Amino acid sequence: MPDSAQAHPAAETILPLPHFASRLVLWQRRHGRHDLPWQVRDPYRVWLSEIMLQQTQVASVIDYYARFTARFPTVQALAAASEDEVLAAWSGLGYYQRARNLQRCAQIVVQEHGGAFPRTAQSLAALPGIGPSTAAAIAAFCFGERAAILDGNVQRVLCRSHGIDAPMPSAATTRQLRALALSLLPAAEDISAYTQGLMDLGATVCRPRQPACPACPFAADCRARLAGDPQRLPLRRAARKIRPQRSAVMLWLRRSPDGLCWLEKRPPLGIWPGLWSLPQFDTPEQALRYAARLGRVIAQRELPPFRHAFTHFELTIQPLLVDLQVQPGVAEPQGLWIDLEQAARMGLPAPVRRLLTATRGDMNQGLLPKH
Ligand code: ADE
Repeated sequence: MPDSAQAHPAAETILPLPHFASRLVLWQRRHGRHDLPWQVRDPYRVWLSEIMLQQTQVASVIDYYARFTARFPTVQALAAASEDEVLAAWSGLGYYQRARNLQRCAQIVVQEHGGAFPRTAQSLAALPGIGPSTAAAIAAFCFGERAAILDGNVQRVLCRSHGIDAPMPSAATTRQLRALALSLLPAAEDISAYTQGLMDLGATVCRPRQPACPACPFAADCRARLAGDPQRLPLRRAARKIRPQRSAVMLWLRRSPDGLCWLEKRPPLGIWPGLWSLPQFDTPEQALRYAARLGRVIAQRELPPFRHAFTHFELTIQPLLVDLQVQPGVAEPQGLWIDLEQAARMGLPAPVRRLLTATRGDMNQGLLPKH
């Protein structure tokens, strides 16, 4: 037995569906999506769309993509922008690490590659924010490389069509899927339609719930369908433990009488690095002491608390709204007074945006009742 078979014994056992690639390519040409704005050969645009689509649905990305490419039409424009400008244009898409990697990547492309994206999946994957699947998508779409994408949608399509019922996510199953994905690739001339076909099938037919099996080119021999319950796959590992709970007080300082809101830039490490945010504290007392450094507190009120989930913990946020008479000449900590309309156009953490915009109506109601 060759070494590779010993290392991945299960990979040997998956029998590819016959003519998988040609059936998918035919289906994509007839039934797939052909009018997405990033279906171009320009690697800058393809790269940008793939990064935006990493954790966000097509329908939400379309507007952001149009605005972002209008604001930064070239990789050079993106590389030259300030971080705040990029975060503001990204604002609302969330996952700001993506935006920061995006700009670092643009700068590397400009400074180290003369403004041209590298042309292979392997060299693309060396750039910040570009994982193997994104690299494969760019290389396939823009340079015709026979590279295999394997994002969550594609994993689902392959698990179902090929009846892979090993629990996910697991390193062994991912290796198995990668080997299968490589073995299924078509000739280079069809790689773009094939790659788009996998994406289209996963998004529109082989959906996580209620897959539209009659519309699928593999309906006749999909192993999960033949087994009677396609939705059962991919098999999920038992749910992870409940996330640890943390809490924080968020101080919404409102300057009297103009109602401007105080934002400070978060440090470069920790949660929401570099975003503009409301100051955050462990206790209301700490928050009020901070407020008192900026002016005289004339009213204060706790707003309803809410939760925000991070990958590794859950944060309960207790907003504290404080009206403040600012004394002229008081030395201010780093930050800025800003109106809510302007704040909404900046790179804000999602829960801060939620708080400031959900409560915007409140802003016109004059002074708050005393606690
Ligand atoms: N999801 C990820 N990449 C995509 C693309 N290029 N088109 C549609 N959906 C996608």
